[in-house]
Amino acid sequence: MSYPLLVTLHLLAAIAFVGTVFFEVILLGGVHGKVSEASLTKVETVLGIRARKIMPWVLLVLYAAGIGLAWQHRAALAQPFATSFATLLSLKILLAISVFGHFVTAMVMQHRGRLNSKRSRKLHISIFCHVLVIVLLAKGMFFIHW
Ligand code: HEM
Repeated sequence: MSYPLLVTLHLLAAIAFVGTVFFEVILLGGVHGKVSEASLTKVETVLGIRARKIMPWVLLVLYAAGIGLAWQHRAALAQPFATSFATLLSLKILLAISVFGHFVTAMVMQHRGRLNSKRSRKLHISIFCHVLVIVLLAKGMFFIHW
């Protein structure tokens, strides 16, 4: 697949993913205490079902396109400390792997019945911080040099 197509798919999927996390943490997180807990729980349950249908596809495109892009930079990634670009890209990929680890943790917790709303919120906030840094690195790696 061509590099411009991979970048476009990766960027579109990143917008969908980062936008969803922003919505959950900043917008939805900010209405706690302003509507009844029962209504909020209902909305969160319905949104959760919808997200579980759509987000796996978004993540598939995001990570598959990311791997395709990384493959084209494999020479740089083979020496992660040789250039600022390689270092920042490696860090970005490590953080993306950590985000994936968050999903696995959430799935394991849910399977064991230990994913309460407090733990779920902590995971969401952590993912939000991760994606903020990932996006800064994704752009910074082209502009920051040392
Ligand atoms: C949470 C997951 C991820 C997010 C939110 C994310 C986000 C982004 C964003 C916003 C860009 C800039 C695209 C542009 O403006 O052109 C980018 C670029 C890039 N990403 Fe990711 N990414 C993620 C995962 C990955 C993974 C898993 C890999 C590789 C294994 C990867 C490899 C790359 C590469 C190589 C570029 C540079 C593309 C270019 O030449 O512009 N990304 N990413």
